[in-house]
Amino acid sequence: MGAGSKAWLNRHVKDHFVRQAREQGLQSRAAFKLKEIQAKHRILRPGSVVIDCGAAPGGWTQIATEIVRSPSQGLVIAVDLLPLRPPIPTALCLQQDFTDPATVQTIRTVLDRFQEQRRLRQLARQRPPKPRQDAGPTTISSNQSKSTTMPSSSETQQSLPPPPPPRRIVDAVLCDMAPSFSGTKAIDRLRTVALAESALVFAEEVLRPGGSFVCKVLQGPETDQLRQRMNAHFKSVMYEKPKSSRSESAEGFLVALGFGQRDMAATGQRSDVEADGGRQ
Ligand SMILES: C[S@@+](CC[C@H](N)C(=O)[O-])C[C@H]1O[C@@H](n2cnc3c(N)ncnc32)[C@H](O)[C@@H]1O
Repeated sequence: MGAGSKAWLNRHVKDHFVRQAREQGLQSRAAFKLKEIQAKHRILRPGSVVIDCGAAPGGWTQIATEIVRSPSQGLVIAVDLLPLRPPIPTALCLQQDFTDPATVQTIRTVLDRFQEQRRLRQLARQRPPKPRQDAGPTTISSNQSKSTTMPSSSETQQSLPPPPPPRRIVDAVLCDMAPSFSGTKAIDRLRTVALAESALVFAEEVLRPGGSFVCKVLQGPETDQLRQRMNAHFKSVMYEKPKSSRSESAEGFLVALGFGQRDMAATGQRSDVEADGGRQ
């Protein structure tokens, strides 16, 4: 195919995704990239906890919140320097620099709270309400209601399984962060990889055993190094170039599955991460 035809085809495909995004009420054509990755790898499920780095204008966040059913079952924390437009109320949105340690600290706090809330919800489901001892009035005050159905803190501690270590409750860390492009390929590659690395460092801290990591990369030697690092922590790492990503762009995605399960299947050993605790 000649260069002219290729350019035409690319424009056509791009327009197709732009049009589709508009028709489907998606906030960016980028949403289709996550849709394609999800269709192939099933990284998100109802109830999943997801961190979406580089979320604006919001296409990935929309797809993720819908799949994980945030906030009723799962949780999506969306981080970007820019606001999501329009805002997505079903996600917890932080307009902050992900590489700023203060942002990461905020996410840790959110995860701790979510973990605690989930434990309490689990407890409420496990414990049937205590039978009423008297055959008294059917209408009771809210105070009485609380005292008959809510467990005391000591009961809570006895009946719940021990909590996993703090924050290792994240099912997927997604990174579609992109720097302001300089036009110099090597610099752009380095900056993109640096953003992906910052997400990977955090993923290594918060992912549950078996969790997933997806990051945008630009092909080049720096990306190979990033992939090697991912290989050390995940069961499998694949390179994906979704159809919705422009073919003339060097952009692609590394999709890593099975956090903490590298080589463990073969040896039957438990990874440090698994031994450390896991999903509730
Ligand atoms: C390709 S866009 C993301 C598109 C988005 N995934 C979607 O579906 O709409 C890349 C985003 O990365 C964000 N970004 C770049 N550096 C960042 C940083 N240090 N912290 C947070 N977001 C960043 C940019 O502001 C930009 O919105």
